[in-house]
Amino acid sequence: MREELRALWERTLAELRNAGTEEELLEIRTRCLGRKGLLTGLLRNVGTVPPEERPEFGRECNEVKEDLSARIDELLAELAAAKREEVLLGERLDVTLPGRGVRHGRLHPVTQVKEEICRIFSGLGFSVVEGPEVELDYYNFEALNIPKDHPAREMQDTFYIEDDIVLRTHTSPVQVRIMEKVRPPVRVLSPGRVYRRDSDVSHTPMFHQIEGLLVDRGITFGDLKGVLTVFLKQVFGEDTALRFRPSFFPFTEPSAEVDIRCVMCGGRGCRVCGQSGWLEILGSGMVDPEVFRNVGYDAEEFTGFAFGLGLERIAMLKFGISDIRLFFDNEMRFLEQF
Ligand code: FA5
Ligand code: MG
Repeated sequence: MREELRALWERTLAELRNAGTEEELLEIRTRCLGRKGLLTGLLRNVGTVPPEERPEFGRECNEVKEDLSARIDELLAELAAAKREEVLLGERLDVTLPGRGVRHGRLHPVTQVKEEICRIFSGLGFSVVEGPEVELDYYNFEALNIPKDHPAREMQDTFYIEDDIVLRTHTSPVQVRIMEKVRPPVRVLSPGRVYRRDSDVSHTPMFHQIEGLLVDRGITFGDLKGVLTVFLKQVFGEDTALRFRPSFFPFTEPSAEVDIRCVMCGGRGCRVCGQSGWLEILGSGMVDPEVFRNVGYDAEEFTGFAFGLGLERIAMLKFGISDIRLFFDNEMRFLEQF
């Protein structure tokens, strides 16, 4: 029996030397030291040992058990430490490396200006509505008093999709769509993309407009002037000089274009304002009775004004940008300045 014990011990030591994984070690532990293991089996046969040798045999069994158990624990601990080391190495951070900066997104300058204008007009009781960019000829032209043979259709060189479907050339069709749906009082603002066959330093084939429309009883040209003055002074500053200049649009009568004192030269005259000292900022006017007739409003009962402005134009003036095409180049160094 004692030889068997010795053989078991030596064999197991050899096995432990060869064991490389946690599974192997656990398997050896169960097989030798477990409740139904080899060592327990030897102890159970203690009856075959001469009685005077039994205490000695029992002690030896315990020694072997303790020795193997301690070795296995040690090997398991080593394996666990090695594993941890490996994980730590894999996760190692070099805290001396310079940090990677967080890139902040920002709103496009045209979006910033759009949101500012919408905020100002919300304060004046206007709500924001939208209309389709692919528009019927009827809404873009016909209902706005621009019939098929009208010269104003040439002024706005149009992208046609079909004979009677266009990419809208301005946001004014939204006026008609809204008035068809609701009765006065109407107080809406409509931002969006518009399209014209146009391209140079101050024109792009796609740009943004905001349309404004206010209809109620007793609205006068004085209201138009008042609202637009409050608005433009909020955008460009209290001291900005304005000028209302008579103009023509088929869908408003009378019509006025509004200029602000050139923000580049302060009115002395420069390249940006064509030496005039003034910059055109929007078109406006009292809604033409013909338009009211097209939407079923009684022009005797209601009056109103409308205006349309180019958002890129306002952003250029506000931020001092001299080429409108920069807005659409998606050049990060340009966009990051706003
Ligand atoms: C109109 O589009 C009228 N619908 C405005 C209006 C609305 C008048 C309601 C009366 C009542 P106009 O074609 O002038 O008007 O365009 C308005 C503004 O759009 C211009 O002042 C200009 O700032 C801008 N704009 C016109 N064409 C371009 C273009 N190709 N690129 C960038 N901005 C443009
Ligand atoms: Mg114009």
